[in-house]
Amino acid sequence: MRSWKAAILAIAPIALATPEAAQAQGSLNVYCSVQAEWCTLIANEFQKATGVKVSITQKGSGETIAQIKAEAANPKGDIWFGGTGDPHLAAAEENLTDVYKSPNLPQLHAWAQKQAADSGFRTTGIYAGALGFGINSELVAKKKITPPSCWADLLKPDFKGEIQMANPNSSGTAYVAIATLVQVMGEDKGFDYLKKMHVNVNAYTRSGTAPMKAVARGETTVSISFVHDGVTEALAGFPVKTATPCEGTGYEIGSISLIKGARNLENARKFYDWALTPAAQRLGAQAKQFQVPSNKETPVPPEAPKFADMKLIDYDFAKYGKASERKRLIGRWDTEIGALPK
Ligand code: G6P
Repeated sequence: MRSWKAAILAIAPIALATPEAAQAQGSLNVYCSVQAEWCTLIANEFQKATGVKVSITQKGSGETIAQIKAEAANPKGDIWFGGTGDPHLAAAEENLTDVYKSPNLPQLHAWAQKQAADSGFRTTGIYAGALGFGINSELVAKKKITPPSCWADLLKPDFKGEIQMANPNSSGTAYVAIATLVQVMGEDKGFDYLKKMHVNVNAYTRSGTAPMKAVARGETTVSISFVHDGVTEALAGFPVKTATPCEGTGYEIGSISLIKGARNLENARKFYDWALTPAAQRLGAQAKQFQVPSNKETPVPPEAPKFADMKLIDYDFAKYGKASERKRLIGRWDTEIGALPK
């Protein structure tokens, strides 16, 4: 009994010191719109580096902007890490996020700095990734379907019930897809295309990465996805190939924003600066996420799809990141496509 008590007394000061130390550094609530593996890794590494206790809420880009809006009178999140740039730009315009000019901004590629300047320094680019197709190579072979290489291919009867994409209300990936089609074809033709493709779509998922994961597991033959998400699945051993459409494709500038009214403002700024450093950005590849990082000094993972090999459009972030434009296009998709029977 005595030795039990002695043992407790001996460890008590250490046990007490740890929470106190953590408390001294405070906490941080991160809304995270990249894949869970990356969210967990950044939380652990930032916590290790600073002693700040990090909690993560992982949700898609559309869901996160909706949550930040709903909580605007009483913000619960401090910082929004990742997810497509358009809703970050819309949040900036709607005054849901705060101005912050990180001292690390000059270290970034021009496209990431432009995102910051365009938003009045309310958001900054942290990575870039291109849109395209995920293809299950075993299923196309088995079903004797020629893998798609152009947007036009997805309308072929071969793909009836074989395509999956996300819902643009919750997913930034799906919004990039719609905005891309509108930019490549013109708005009415783009929506006409989406209506025709609807016949071939088996599901509109909540999360932007779900269609690629379904391709990996053989639950669907083709997805409309960011191509770097296909690299993750292929490296995990799934029969996944990717392609980028011959007519041209769009891309995302994955972004970071400081939530207006953040309760842990100092820690949010600390995290913002840290997220722009090469040390933090390398964690993406470590978590098997192969976007192009925004800091010029962060090595581009060799697995990252090469932009030079694709026909990239000059995606109009200023236009498609406008809150009103985003709302209008998603509304049009809801009435003209989302409401169609399946
Ligand atoms: C994945 C991609 C990211 C992208 C995000 C968007 O995590 O790897 O590059 O920003 O999806 O997610 P969402 O669910 O909003 O489409």
